[in-house]
Amino acid sequence: MLAMNYRGPFRVRAAQKPYPEILHPGDAIVRVTRSCICGSDLHLYHGLVPDTRVGMTFGHEFIGVVEEIGSSVQNLSVGDNVIVPFNVACGKCAFCKQGLFGNCHESNPEATAVGGIFGYSHTAGGYDGGQAEFVRVPYADVGPTIIPDWMDHDDAVLLTDVVPTGYQAAEMGGIKKGDTVVVFGAGPVGIMAAKSAWLFGAGRVIVIDHLEYRLDFVKKYAQCEAYNFRSMEDPVLFIKKTTDWFGADVCIDAVGGDAAGSALQTITGRKLMIQAGSATALHWAINSVKKGGIVSIVGVYGPTDNLVPIGNVVNKGITIRANQASVKRLLPRLIDHIQAGRLNPKEIITHRVPLEEVSDAYHIFSAKLDNCIKPILIPPSARQ
Ligand SMILES: NC(=O)c1ccc[n+]([C@@H]2O[C@H](COP(=O)([O-])OP(=O)(O)OC[C@H]3O[C@@H](n4cnc5c(N)ncnc54)[C@H](O)[C@@H]3O)[C@@H](O)[C@H]2O)c1
Ligand SMILES: [Zn+2]
Ligand SMILES: [Zn+2]
Repeated sequence: MLAMNYRGPFRVRAAQKPYPEILHPGDAIVRVTRSCICGSDLHLYHGLVPDTRVGMTFGHEFIGVVEEIGSSVQNLSVGDNVIVPFNVACGKCAFCKQGLFGNCHESNPEATAVGGIFGYSHTAGGYDGGQAEFVRVPYADVGPTIIPDWMDHDDAVLLTDVVPTGYQAAEMGGIKKGDTVVVFGAGPVGIMAAKSAWLFGAGRVIVIDHLEYRLDFVKKYAQCEAYNFRSMEDPVLFIKKTTDWFGADVCIDAVGGDAAGSALQTITGRKLMIQAGSATALHWAINSVKKGGIVSIVGVYGPTDNLVPIGNVVNKGITIRANQASVKRLLPRLIDHIQAGRLNPKEIITHRVPLEEVSDAYHIFSAKLDNCIKPILIPPSARQ
């Protein structure tokens, strides 16, 4: 079968790989009909994630058709169209039982750090991902969710990660009616966080990025304010000024370790890698939230340390909430929001690329070329 193949930082290509096999009675094999490239894949692509092995298939955002099921699978049948959450979760451990599917204790040998994630290095369990024609889905009775008949499959594929992550970012912000919410990052996740902030009752939503085309998009799509940090002397000062010097009620980091905007952070975090990615957006979030405010982090950082102003967290009494999204927990609510027309995720898809051209797709998304917001990959078997 055809699949994305990692060859080392900045080098990915499509290659022939063996068809995946059922390894456990609870597995399913899914024939992928669409997969996405995510900002999280860029951390892998840029070589920032430890133990990303050459030969791995990335891809944690995919939907498809159930092709085969293991002997113990009860909730799926061959031929079902399914949304597959990015978390590989057992459904039975103490964490899964609390709905913390992103923190499953069984699906990753490195479980103290993170639960299993499809296509996300051996740090996240070493599972091959869905930027491929077929993929093995462990714990098939837990994650995969049947795509409702009425749902557009372009919306469905965005329910595997981006929509739940943006939504959970807003949820973790504990937004109260009328709150001012600042979202750092106008990528797919930040766009969804801004859109979701209104659903939780925000009174003002401000997005910060430095890519004009994304700022233009989010302004219209999420009907919010959007500003370029390159045109500000200091983003923290800007936010303080515009909030009567109080600071924002809630700040969301939807950028993570690939952040731009500070030479010191970029050199230490992205070039020398002596910290786990550049923590520029997180720094700004902590410094521009009000005293007693909440910083919600969904941007991804590596497992080692980062340069963050922890003293300000203490002195300002800030609450920090952070996690990988627990996709399965949020799906019922998000499906309702889509059906009711309150969320329309597919509008963020800008590129539809044959899987054979996965290398170009990574380059375009990583370098933010051609006004790219969200690329989806279509395998050859899904185009017949
Ligand atoms: N926690 C989770 O479950 C989860 C799930 C999906 C993605 N993520 C993470 O969310 C983050 C965003 O993902 P994405 O797909 O939107 O990525 P993306 O790369 O498309 O978007 C990131 C955006 O941040 C902007 N940016 C860079 N530096 C900035 C700064 N200092 N301040 C404000 N904006 C800045 C970039 O220009 C870009 O538009 C990534 O770190 C990704 O790994 C987390
Ligand atoms: Zn993702
Ligand atoms: Zn579990």
